[in-house]
Amino acid sequence: MNFREDGYAAVDWAADYLERVADLPVLAQVAPGDLSAKLPSAPPEEGEQFADVLRDLDELILPALTNWQHPRFFAYFAVTASEPGILAELIAATLNQVAIVWRASPASTELELRVVDWVRQLLGLPEGWHGHIEDTASTSTLAALIAARHVTGRDVVVCSEHAHSSVDKAARMLGMELRKVPADDELRMRVDDGLRLADAAAVVATVGTTSFASVDPVRELGERARRAGAWLHVDAAYAGPSWICEEERWSQDGVELADSLVVNPHKWLLTPMDCSLLWTSRPEDFRKAFSLVPEYLRTSEDVYSLSEYGPALGRRFRSLKLWAVLRCYGRAELQRILREHIRLANLFAEWIEADPDWELVAPQRFSLVVFRLNGTDEQNEALLQRVNASGELFMSHTRLNGRYVLRLAIGNARTMEDDVRRAWDVLRREAVTRARPA
Ligand SMILES: Cc1ncc(COP(=O)(O)O)c(C=O)c1O
Repeated sequence: MNFREDGYAAVDWAADYLERVADLPVLAQVAPGDLSAKLPSAPPEEGEQFADVLRDLDELILPALTNWQHPRFFAYFAVTASEPGILAELIAATLNQVAIVWRASPASTELELRVVDWVRQLLGLPEGWHGHIEDTASTSTLAALIAARHVTGRDVVVCSEHAHSSVDKAARMLGMELRKVPADDELRMRVDDGLRLADAAAVVATVGTTSFASVDPVRELGERARRAGAWLHVDAAYAGPSWICEEERWSQDGVELADSLVVNPHKWLLTPMDCSLLWTSRPEDFRKAFSLVPEYLRTSEDVYSLSEYGPALGRRFRSLKLWAVLRCYGRAELQRILREHIRLANLFAEWIEADPDWELVAPQRFSLVVFRLNGTDEQNEALLQRVNASGELFMSHTRLNGRYVLRLAIGNARTMEDDVRRAWDVLRREAVTRARPA
């Protein structure tokens, strides 16, 4: 291949994609197996041109994409891979650093420490915490629970009924017992006399739950955990980036008591998948849990090796994209974008509240709106199916007290007020079609 020429073509492809993504369907309009049926079952015998790969990207792959970069992607938690992050990924792959120990990539190790500390400062987190990058919040939480078990020698994890499934999964993988605590009317973990922590290795408090963006009482949980000798892990994977805006720091109350904290820049800080930040206020305990340096990796600079703070030995140069994002946007522009997302979510929630055919079902938090059409679960489910089949927007659902509810999550930097208005128009249009005879 001609790297320079093919590279220009690939960057052109990426730029064209970002320009036209708003005209593509948001949810892939294909059935399971459609793409598989078109892909050759055997690998190529002889090498092809990179142009052939780009052609098939258009013809085969593109129709089978759900377009996460689309401004009307409102499902799960909407995300953004920003342009500086995309280009930094290209360079990270070019450099192919494998940061197993400091000397294997001094740049990756030291940039990671510095950039994660920049984010700590931007979010107003305590000084002195040790932070590093994991791939996902699932891994960060797994790592935190490993450290908690190592330190406490206990086997119980306590979390709210609304904690993310990654907590369940980590507990299951570790063979730990998971104790789920019911939530109160505001969907926060209930902290009362019934909360048993005496045998807990860790309490997981969530700031911004996946289904409802609710916020657990972190301070009370932290104080109770401390008295019981349990580790406090805070999962702020989604909502943590909002702390870049001072007015959102109400949800940070008590986070300074955390033994560990996870925040995902790949969710709401414009950084391409994958980038999850894991801080700990107890780095030495973390290190004791994870440090395992075989003879062939032993060096005099061991102290700097980030592989001693988590499960992976080979570590990607993830800090490069985060560095590029922070430098090209700066605090002010990141604040502006997140504030706009929150404003748009509040606006949408106002429309819902003002219309008697619709109901807000959870307190409004951050950039997520949880609501439903007045009607049956079946009607709401069918509505969501019609909306998503239109290709005009993509939303997802959850259940609250058994009832089927809809989620509109705003988190893409391309999302404008017009996109949110269009979502509201499509929802009302499709809600009316239910009344028409088949
Ligand atoms: C609150 C919360 N925690 C953890 C996760 C898991 O994140 P990841 O996909 O990075 O593992 C999610 C995913 O949406 C989440 O919403």
